[in-house]
Amino acid sequence: MITRPIIALDFATVSQVDAFLSTFNGESLFVKVGIELFYQNGPAIVTHLKQLGHDVFLDLKLHDIPNTVQRSMKGLTALEVDMLNVHAAGGQDMMEAAMEGILSGTPTGKKRPKLIAVTQLTSTTPLAMQQEQLIAVPLMESVIHYAKLTQLAGLDGVVCSALEARKIKENTGKEFLCVTPGIRPTGTDVGDQKRISTPAMAKKEGASYIVVGRPITQADDPLAAYRTIKEQWNGVDK
Ligand code: C5P
Repeated sequence: MITRPIIALDFATVSQVDAFLSTFNGESLFVKVGIELFYQNGPAIVTHLKQLGHDVFLDLKLHDIPNTVQRSMKGLTALEVDMLNVHAAGGQDMMEAAMEGILSGTPTGKKRPKLIAVTQLTSTTPLAMQQEQLIAVPLMESVIHYAKLTQLAGLDGVVCSALEARKIKENTGKEFLCVTPGIRPTGTDVGDQKRISTPAMAKKEGASYIVVGRPITQADDPLAAYRTIKEQWNGVDK
């Protein structure tokens, strides 16, 4: 499957986003709006990006009681985003409620956004998971457990490390989406990420989409960095 790398727009202001996007000469991108940008600029940033012709993954990682998540998802769906997410740790009922919210918020005749769940953050180490979350099983087992729970709840896939994608697909099927952040081309700064992978390795391991932030947003030449990563991810520059 040929897909565009999803660019994480981890900026504080709309003008920073616009300055960054201006280097792409109007090319239609798949961008990710996370909590930094959304909390400081509100839903208007999403409307703005959609009007510019970009696909939007609204990465707000909802984790609350089912009723609250359902109602929030219904509202977010009205923004006509392409992908939304929750934390799998919120449980099956919460994930089902999230999907109900999406289905009820999608206007008739429109495609509903994909809904995926975060398993374990790619910044979480096995030691931190065991000591801080008191999860005694190996990290991979926890990730697979969450992935199966996500599938049982009727969601489209998970956010996970590329290093986990193959095992997840083995346990859920090839249609189940594995959206993988923690992507670092060889030679780039790792930052706070722990379970990282190169774009090519992510492809080999069966990732459905890669999410790339700082290796593109902080690059001296973001367009060149995007093109290189896209090429490494798809094998060809498309
Ligand atoms: O800059 P970098 O490439 O590390 O950005 C990764 C993006 O993916 C960030 O926006 C981060 O919030 C997001 N993310 C992640 N790990 C997850 C879920 C989302 O890094 N499990």
